Amino acid sequence: MKATTPPDFRELTRFARQARRRAHAPFSRFLVGAALRARGGEIVTGCNVENASYGLTICAERVAAFKAVSEGFRRFDAIAVVADSKDLTPPCGACRQILWELCGDVWVHLAGLDRRARTYRMSDLLPFPFDARHL
Ligand code: THU
Repeated sequence: MKATTPPDFRELTRFARQARRRAHAPFSRFLVGAALRARGGEIVTGCNVENASYGLTICAERVAAFKAVSEGFRRFDAIAVVADSKDLTPPCGACRQILWELCGDVWVHLAGLDRRARTYRMSDLLPFPFDARHL
C-alpha cells in the first residue's frame, strides 16, 4: 500500500536541478534533470544526453532509472524532473513505460526553475499500462 500523502520533494528537486546542469543537449538546448529516490533514501540522478543521430537521444528520466537499476536499486519512492519551460515538462511516453516497469507507481514531481511544481502518481500518467502481467 502506498502512502496517499506526497513526501517532501525539496531535496530531490535540488538534486534534479543540479543534474539538469550536466545535460548534454547541443541540438535541442533543452536541459532536463531527474532525480530518482530509492526506498532506502538513496538518490540517483540523470540528465538528457543527446546524439547527432537524434533518435539515439535518451531522456533524463530514463538515464536515472537505468543508472539506479544498474547500481542494484529495485524499489523506489519518487522521481523529480526539472526543466526550464513555460509549462512543466512531463515524462515522454517512452519514459512513462520505462518508469512504470522499473520504478512502479512512484510519485512524479515536476518542477520548473522557478517555484512552479506539480506532483502526480505514475499510475495517473500511465493508466492501463502494458507490463509483465500481460505476458
Ligand atoms: N527530454 C527529457 O530529457 N525528458 C523529458 O521529460 C522530455 C524531453 C529531453 C529529450 C531531448 O534531449 C530534449 O529533452 C528535447 O526533447
